[in-house]
Amino acid sequence: MFLVTGATGGIGRRVVRLLRENNARVRAFVRLSSRYDELEHRGAELFIGELREPRDIEKACRQVKYIISTHGSRGDALALDYRANIELIDQAKANGVEHFVFISVLGAERGYEDAPVFKAKREVERYLQTSGVNYTILRPAGLASNLLPLAETFRQTGLYLLIGDRTNRTSIVSTDDLAKMAVDSVTLLAACNQVLSVGGSEILTREDIPHIFGRIFNREPVIINPPLFLVDGLRGALGLINPQAEKALGTFRTLLANEFFCTKEEIAKLEAIFNFPLEPLESFLRRHLSV
Ligand SMILES: NC(=O)c1ccc[n+]([C@@H]2O[C@H](COP(=O)([O-])OP(=O)(O)OC[C@H]3O[C@@H](n4cnc5c(N)ncnc54)[C@H](OP(=O)(O)O)[C@@H]3O)[C@@H](O)[C@H]2O)c1
Repeated sequence: MFLVTGATGGIGRRVVRLLRENNARVRAFVRLSSRYDELEHRGAELFIGELREPRDIEKACRQVKYIISTHGSRGDALALDYRANIELIDQAKANGVEHFVFISVLGAERGYEDAPVFKAKREVERYLQTSGVNYTILRPAGLASNLLPLAETFRQTGLYLLIGDRTNRTSIVSTDDLAKMAVDSVTLLAACNQVLSVGGSEILTREDIPHIFGRIFNREPVIINPPLFLVDGLRGALGLINPQAEKALGTFRTLLANEFFCTKEEIAKLEAIFNFPLEPLESFLRRHLSV
Protein backbone atom coordinates (compact mmCIF):
# COMPACT_ATOMS: atom_id res chain seq x y z
CA MET A 1 0.00 0.00 0.00
CA PHE A 2 1.26 3.48 -0.95
CA LEU A 3 0.38 6.56 1.10
CA VAL A 4 0.37 9.76 -0.97
CA THR A 5 0.11 13.12 0.80
CA GLY A 6 -0.91 16.20 -1.19
CA ALA A 7 -2.89 13.77 -3.35
CA THR A 8 -5.10 16.55 -4.77
CA GLY A 9 -2.12 18.75 -5.69
CA GLY A 10 -0.26 19.19 -8.97
CA ILE A 11 2.23 16.38 -8.30
CA GLY A 12 0.17 14.18 -5.98
CA ARG A 13 -2.76 13.81 -8.38
CA ARG A 14 -0.39 12.60 -11.10
CA VAL A 15 1.36 10.22 -8.68
CA VAL A 16 -1.97 8.62 -7.72
CA ARG A 17 -2.96 8.35 -11.39
CA LEU A 18 0.30 6.55 -12.30
CA LEU A 19 0.12 4.20 -9.33
CA ARG A 20 -3.46 3.25 -10.12
CA GLU A 21 -2.56 2.68 -13.79
CA ASN A 22 -0.08 0.12 -12.42
CA ASN A 23 -2.88 -1.34 -10.25
CA ALA A 24 -1.00 -0.45 -7.06
CA ARG A 25 -2.99 -0.01 -3.86
CA VAL A 26 -3.03 3.66 -2.92
CA ARG A 27 -4.21 5.55 0.14
CA ALA A 28 -4.69 9.21 -0.77
CA PHE A 29 -4.45 11.65 2.15
CA VAL A 30 -7.00 14.39 1.43
CA ARG A 31 -8.84 17.11 3.30
CA LEU A 32 -12.63 17.11 3.51
CA SER A 33 -12.59 20.45 1.70
CA SER A 34 -10.50 19.06 -1.22
CA ARG A 35 -11.79 18.05 -4.65
CA TYR A 36 -11.03 14.34 -4.54
CA ASP A 37 -13.65 12.59 -6.74
CA GLU A 38 -11.06 11.87 -9.48
CA LEU A 39 -8.90 9.97 -6.98
CA GLU A 40 -11.87 7.92 -5.83
CA HIS A 41 -12.91 7.13 -9.42
CA ARG A 42 -9.40 5.88 -10.11
CA GLY A 43 -9.76 3.42 -7.25
CA ALA A 44 -7.62 5.09 -4.58
CA GLU A 45 -8.62 4.56 -0.95
CA LEU A 46 -9.36 7.95 0.59
CA PHE A 47 -8.01 8.95 3.98
CA ILE A 48 -9.77 12.12 5.01
CA GLY A 49 -7.68 14.07 7.46
CA GLU A 50 -5.58 17.09 8.27
CA LEU A 51 -1.78 17.03 8.10
CA ARG A 52 -1.57 19.42 11.06
CA GLU A 53 -2.97 16.60 13.21
CA PRO A 54 -0.33 14.01 14.26
CA ARG A 55 -3.14 11.59 15.14
CA ASP A 56 -4.40 11.66 11.53
CA ILE A 57 -0.88 11.02 10.23
CA GLU A 58 -0.45 8.13 12.62
CA LYS A 59 -3.71 6.51 11.41
CA ALA A 60 -2.98 7.15 7.73
CA CYS A 61 0.40 5.38 7.98
CA ARG A 62 -0.95 2.09 9.32
CA GLN A 63 -0.19 -0.91 7.06
CA VAL A 64 1.62 1.27 4.57
CA LYS A 65 4.69 0.03 2.67
CA TYR A 66 5.67 3.19 0.78
CA ILE A 67 5.15 6.88 1.45
CA ILE A 68 5.28 9.60 -1.21
CA SER A 69 5.14 13.04 0.43
CA THR A 70 4.07 15.68 -2.09
CA HIS A 71 1.99 18.09 0.00
CA GLY A 72 2.58 21.84 -0.01
CA SER A 73 2.01 24.44 2.68
CA ARG A 74 0.63 27.69 1.22
CA GLY A 75 2.36 29.78 3.89
CA ASP A 76 2.52 27.56 6.99
CA ALA A 77 5.99 26.06 6.50
CA LEU A 78 6.43 25.11 10.16
CA ALA A 79 3.24 23.05 10.49
CA LEU A 80 3.16 21.47 7.02
CA ASP A 81 6.56 21.52 5.30
CA TYR A 82 8.33 20.76 8.56
CA ARG A 83 6.23 19.12 11.32
CA ALA A 84 3.93 17.04 9.12
CA ASN A 85 6.91 15.53 7.27
CA ILE A 86 8.81 14.82 10.48
CA GLU A 87 5.72 13.03 11.81
CA LEU A 88 5.40 11.07 8.53
CA ILE A 89 9.04 9.95 8.83
CA ASP A 90 8.56 8.91 12.47
CA GLN A 91 5.51 6.89 11.45
CA ALA A 92 7.41 5.41 8.51
CA LYS A 93 9.98 4.12 10.98
CA ALA A 94 7.36 2.82 13.39
CA ASN A 95 5.52 0.97 10.61
CA GLY A 96 8.58 -0.50 8.87
CA VAL A 97 7.97 1.49 5.68
CA GLU A 98 10.29 0.27 2.89
CA HIS A 99 10.80 3.52 1.00
CA PHE A 100 10.00 7.22 1.56
CA VAL A 101 9.94 9.64 -1.37
CA PHE A 102 10.16 13.29 -0.37
CA ILE A 103 9.47 16.21 -2.72
CA SER A 104 11.89 18.89 -1.59
CA VAL A 105 12.92 21.97 -3.60
CA LEU A 106 15.89 22.86 -5.79
CA GLY A 107 18.29 24.95 -3.71
CA ALA A 108 17.15 23.54 -0.34
CA GLU A 109 20.81 23.20 0.67
CA ARG A 110 21.66 26.85 -0.04
CA GLY A 111 20.60 28.06 3.39
CA TYR A 112 18.31 30.93 2.38
CA GLU A 113 17.74 32.50 5.82
CA ASP A 114 14.69 34.42 4.68
CA ALA A 115 12.79 31.48 3.13
CA PRO A 116 10.92 29.26 5.64
CA VAL A 117 9.92 26.65 3.03
CA PHE A 118 13.54 26.12 1.96
CA LYS A 119 14.70 25.85 5.57
CA ALA A 120 11.95 23.38 6.45
CA LYS A 121 12.72 21.23 3.39
CA ARG A 122 16.43 21.11 4.28
CA GLU A 123 15.73 20.08 7.88
CA VAL A 124 13.32 17.36 6.73
CA GLU A 125 15.92 16.10 4.23
CA ARG A 126 18.48 15.81 7.07
CA TYR A 127 15.99 14.03 9.33
CA LEU A 128 15.05 11.58 6.59
CA GLN A 129 18.66 10.87 5.67
CA THR A 130 19.49 9.85 9.23
CA SER A 131 16.19 8.05 9.92
CA GLY A 132 17.28 4.61 8.74
CA VAL A 133 14.35 4.49 6.28
CA ASN A 134 15.24 4.04 2.58
CA TYR A 135 14.56 7.29 0.79
CA THR A 136 14.68 9.29 -2.41
CA ILE A 137 14.77 13.07 -2.12
CA LEU A 138 13.69 14.86 -5.28
CA ARG A 139 14.56 18.57 -5.46
CA PRO A 140 12.52 20.04 -8.31
CA ALA A 141 12.90 23.43 -9.95
CA GLY A 142 9.60 25.20 -10.82
CA LEU A 143 6.73 22.93 -11.90
CA ALA A 144 5.38 23.27 -15.43
CA SER A 145 1.81 22.70 -14.21
CA ASN A 146 2.00 25.98 -12.26
CA LEU A 147 2.35 27.81 -15.58
CA LEU A 148 -0.94 26.51 -16.98
CA PRO A 149 -3.15 29.21 -15.36
CA LEU A 150 -0.66 31.89 -16.47
CA ALA A 151 -0.80 30.51 -20.00
CA GLU A 152 -4.61 30.72 -19.95
CA THR A 153 -4.41 34.37 -18.86
CA PHE A 154 -1.88 34.95 -21.64
CA ARG A 155 -4.20 33.31 -24.16
CA GLN A 156 -6.92 35.87 -23.25
CA THR A 157 -4.77 39.00 -22.81
CA GLY A 158 -1.26 38.53 -24.24
CA LEU A 159 0.06 39.81 -20.87
CA TYR A 160 2.82 38.21 -18.78
CA LEU A 161 3.95 39.51 -15.38
CA LEU A 162 7.66 38.95 -14.78
CA ILE A 163 8.93 40.41 -11.50
CA GLY A 164 12.69 41.02 -11.23
CA ASP A 165 15.56 39.90 -13.43
CA ARG A 166 14.42 38.66 -16.85
CA THR A 167 17.69 36.84 -17.45
CA ASN A 168 17.63 34.60 -14.36
CA ARG A 169 17.89 30.96 -15.40
CA THR A 170 15.40 28.23 -14.56
CA SER A 171 14.83 24.55 -15.46
CA ILE A 172 11.06 24.21 -15.30
CA VAL A 173 10.25 20.52 -14.93
CA SER A 174 7.34 18.68 -16.52
CA THR A 175 5.08 17.79 -13.57
CA ASP A 176 4.26 14.52 -15.37
CA ASP A 177 7.97 13.60 -15.49
CA LEU A 178 8.41 14.49 -11.81
CA ALA A 179 5.45 12.29 -10.81
CA LYS A 180 6.90 9.41 -12.82
CA MET A 181 10.25 9.83 -11.07
CA ALA A 182 8.54 9.85 -7.68
CA VAL A 183 6.77 6.56 -8.47
CA ASP A 184 9.81 4.88 -10.09
CA SER A 185 12.07 5.90 -7.18
CA VAL A 186 10.51 3.20 -5.03
CA THR A 187 11.69 0.37 -7.28
CA LEU A 188 14.88 1.65 -8.94
CA LEU A 189 17.99 0.69 -7.01
CA ALA A 190 19.91 3.61 -8.54
CA ALA A 191 17.42 6.05 -6.98
CA CYS A 192 17.61 4.55 -3.50
CA ASN A 193 19.09 6.86 -0.83
CA GLN A 194 19.76 9.55 -3.42
CA VAL A 195 19.23 13.32 -3.32
CA LEU A 196 18.47 14.39 -6.89
CA SER A 197 18.15 17.83 -8.45
CA VAL A 198 15.22 17.70 -10.87
CA GLY A 199 14.77 20.03 -13.82
CA GLY A 200 13.42 19.89 -17.34
CA SER A 201 15.41 19.08 -20.46
CA GLU A 202 16.56 22.66 -21.05
CA ILE A 203 17.91 25.68 -19.18
CA LEU A 204 15.63 28.64 -19.87
CA THR A 205 15.77 32.29 -18.88
CA ARG A 206 12.62 33.56 -17.18
CA GLU A 207 12.05 35.73 -20.24
CA ASP A 208 11.86 32.65 -22.48
CA ILE A 209 8.55 31.65 -20.85
CA PRO A 210 6.34 34.44 -22.32
CA HIS A 211 8.01 33.85 -25.68
CA ILE A 212 7.07 30.17 -25.50
CA PHE A 213 3.48 31.25 -24.70
CA GLY A 214 3.70 33.62 -27.69
CA ARG A 215 4.68 30.77 -30.03
CA ILE A 216 1.94 28.51 -28.67
CA PHE A 217 -0.84 31.07 -29.04
CA ASN A 218 0.65 32.87 -32.01
CA ARG A 219 0.64 36.29 -30.37
CA GLU A 220 3.35 38.77 -29.38
CA PRO A 221 3.84 38.80 -25.58
CA VAL A 222 3.45 42.03 -23.61
CA ILE A 223 5.84 41.58 -20.67
CA ILE A 224 5.14 43.65 -17.56
CA ASN A 225 8.44 43.71 -15.68
CA PRO A 226 8.35 45.50 -12.29
CA PRO A 227 11.61 45.54 -10.32
CA LEU A 228 12.14 43.28 -7.31
CA PHE A 229 12.29 46.21 -4.87
CA LEU A 230 8.52 46.63 -5.33
CA VAL A 231 8.07 43.24 -3.63
CA ASP A 232 10.39 44.41 -0.85
CA GLY A 233 8.27 47.54 -0.42
CA LEU A 234 5.10 45.46 -0.31
CA ARG A 235 6.65 43.05 2.21
CA GLY A 236 7.75 45.91 4.44
CA ALA A 237 4.29 47.48 4.42
CA LEU A 238 2.61 44.10 5.03
CA GLY A 239 4.97 43.43 7.94
CA LEU A 240 3.49 46.38 9.80
CA ILE A 241 0.05 44.78 9.87
CA ASN A 242 0.76 41.04 9.44
CA PRO A 243 4.28 39.83 10.37
CA GLN A 244 3.34 36.21 9.54
CA ALA A 245 2.45 37.09 5.95
CA GLU A 246 5.68 39.07 5.67
CA LYS A 247 7.67 35.94 6.63
CA ALA A 248 5.76 33.80 4.11
CA LEU A 249 6.59 36.32 1.38
CA GLY A 250 10.28 35.65 2.12
CA THR A 251 10.05 32.33 0.26
CA PHE A 252 8.34 34.07 -2.68
CA ARG A 253 11.05 36.71 -2.79
CA THR A 254 13.78 34.06 -2.68
CA LEU A 255 12.20 32.34 -5.68
CA LEU A 256 12.11 35.63 -7.61
CA ALA A 257 15.61 36.78 -6.69
CA ASN A 258 17.62 33.65 -7.45
CA GLU A 259 18.38 31.20 -10.23
CA PHE A 260 16.97 27.67 -10.03
CA PHE A 261 18.32 25.48 -12.78
CA CYS A 262 19.95 22.07 -13.13
CA THR A 263 23.30 21.56 -14.80
CA LYS A 264 23.60 19.40 -17.94
CA GLU A 265 25.32 16.77 -15.77
CA GLU A 266 22.40 16.71 -13.32
CA ILE A 267 19.93 16.25 -16.17
CA ALA A 268 22.05 13.50 -17.72
CA LYS A 269 22.17 11.75 -14.33
CA LEU A 270 18.37 11.88 -14.03
CA GLU A 271 17.85 10.51 -17.53
CA ALA A 272 20.33 7.71 -16.81
CA ILE A 273 18.65 6.73 -13.51
CA PHE A 274 15.05 6.94 -14.68
CA ASN A 275 15.69 5.90 -18.27
CA PHE A 276 13.33 8.27 -20.11
CA PRO A 277 13.97 11.58 -21.91
CA LEU A 278 12.79 14.67 -20.03
CA GLU A 279 10.07 16.69 -21.70
CA PRO A 280 10.72 20.28 -22.85
CA LEU A 281 8.41 22.94 -21.38
CA GLU A 282 6.82 23.85 -24.72
CA SER A 283 5.80 20.24 -25.33
CA PHE A 284 4.26 19.94 -21.82
CA LEU A 285 2.28 23.15 -22.32
CA ARG A 286 1.04 22.19 -25.79
CA ARG A 287 -0.18 18.81 -24.51
CA HIS A 288 -2.05 20.35 -21.58
CA LEU A 289 -3.44 23.41 -23.34
CA SER A 290 -4.78 21.38 -26.29
CA VAL A 291 -3.21 23.60 -28.95
N1 LIG B 1 5.14 24.57 -7.20
C1 LIG B 1 6.42 24.56 -7.50
O1 LIG B 1 6.91 25.20 -8.46
C2 LIG B 1 7.34 23.72 -6.66
C3 LIG B 1 8.71 23.75 -6.91
C4 LIG B 1 9.54 22.94 -6.13
C5 LIG B 1 8.99 22.13 -5.14
N2 LIG B 1 7.64 22.14 -4.94
C6 LIG B 1 7.09 21.26 -3.90
O2 LIG B 1 6.23 20.33 -4.54
C7 LIG B 1 5.20 19.92 -3.66
C8 LIG B 1 3.85 20.05 -4.34
O3 LIG B 1 3.69 21.31 -4.87
P1 LIG B 1 2.38 21.61 -5.70
O4 LIG B 1 2.59 22.93 -6.33
O5 LIG B 1 2.00 20.41 -6.48
O6 LIG B 1 1.36 21.80 -4.51
P2 LIG B 1 -0.16 22.14 -4.62
O7 LIG B 1 -0.64 21.87 -6.00
O8 LIG B 1 -0.34 23.47 -4.05
O9 LIG B 1 -0.78 21.04 -3.65
C9 LIG B 1 -0.60 21.09 -2.31
C10 LIG B 1 -1.27 19.82 -1.75
O10 LIG B 1 -1.07 19.78 -0.34
C11 LIG B 1 -2.33 19.60 0.27
N3 LIG B 1 -2.41 20.24 1.57
C12 LIG B 1 -2.10 21.52 1.86
N4 LIG B 1 -2.32 21.76 3.17
C13 LIG B 1 -2.77 20.59 3.70
C14 LIG B 1 -3.20 20.19 5.01
N5 LIG B 1 -3.19 21.05 6.03
N6 LIG B 1 -3.61 18.92 5.19
C15 LIG B 1 -3.67 18.03 4.16
N7 LIG B 1 -3.27 18.35 2.91
C16 LIG B 1 -2.84 19.62 2.68
C17 LIG B 1 -3.32 20.27 -0.68
O11 LIG B 1 -4.62 19.80 -0.41
P3 LIG B 1 -5.93 20.68 -0.75
O12 LIG B 1 -6.39 20.22 -2.10
O13 LIG B 1 -6.89 20.31 0.32
O14 LIG B 1 -5.54 22.13 -0.71
C18 LIG B 1 -2.76 19.79 -2.02
O15 LIG B 1 -3.16 18.47 -2.28
C19 LIG B 1 5.34 20.78 -2.41
O16 LIG B 1 6.03 20.04 -1.44
C20 LIG B 1 6.19 21.95 -2.90
O17 LIG B 1 6.95 22.51 -1.86
C21 LIG B 1 6.81 22.90 -5.67
